[in-house]
Amino acid sequence: MTGGRAHSGAREQGAAPVSQQYAGASTADTEDVVGLILADHREFERLFRLLRNREEDRAALRGQLADLLVAHAEAEEQEVYPALRRKAPEEAEEIEHGSEEHSEGHEALLELLEVADVDDHDTFEDKLEELVEALNHHIDEEERDILNAARENVGDDERAELGRAFLAVRNRLLEGTPGDVDNVGRLVDEAREKGEL
Ligand SMILES: [Fe+2]
Ligand SMILES: [Fe+2]
Repeated sequence: MTGGRAHSGAREQGAAPVSQQYAGASTADTEDVVGLILADHREFERLFRLLRNREEDRAALRGQLADLLVAHAEAEEQEVYPALRRKAPEEAEEIEHGSEEHSEGHEALLELLEVADVDDHDTFEDKLEELVEALNHHIDEEERDILNAARENVGDDERAELGRAFLAVRNRLLEGTPGDVDNVGRLVDEAREKGEL
């Protein structure tokens, strides 16, 4: 049994463990944290393309993207960013900026999740475009600044260790529904209280 989900009809009874229903880092053939993060980024881009298609099940895809985005960002912030801050203190500002961009992404995600009628194409596509723009910007900066800092400052063994820690947090979150509208709303409220938004 997979239990009820408010925002996604994608899960079926008797299916594989929830975290394995996702592509990206779940199926990547590497333990390297850089490779795992890149694999999730490519999965986000695949989901963006599917979400642009009016013939797809947009409600299910939206839920899938939301869960993966929140789990990925939380795992980066819990495991990867703090380790990198220790290894490369000179990157502290870039890392802080990355966390702020996660909050901006969550804010744009919340607006997409709040579109009540996914068949209202114009509204859905406006909100999707805003989310894709915010995320593409973050993915670009993260890959250039933060992941290059990891390549330069963190050795292979530690990158594998970080990869396992990243995946453990990400997959544990994916057993629940981290992208549901209430949780994303809570994350946005917290970011506003911290002055990130
Ligand atoms: Fe990322
Ligand atoms: Fe990120």
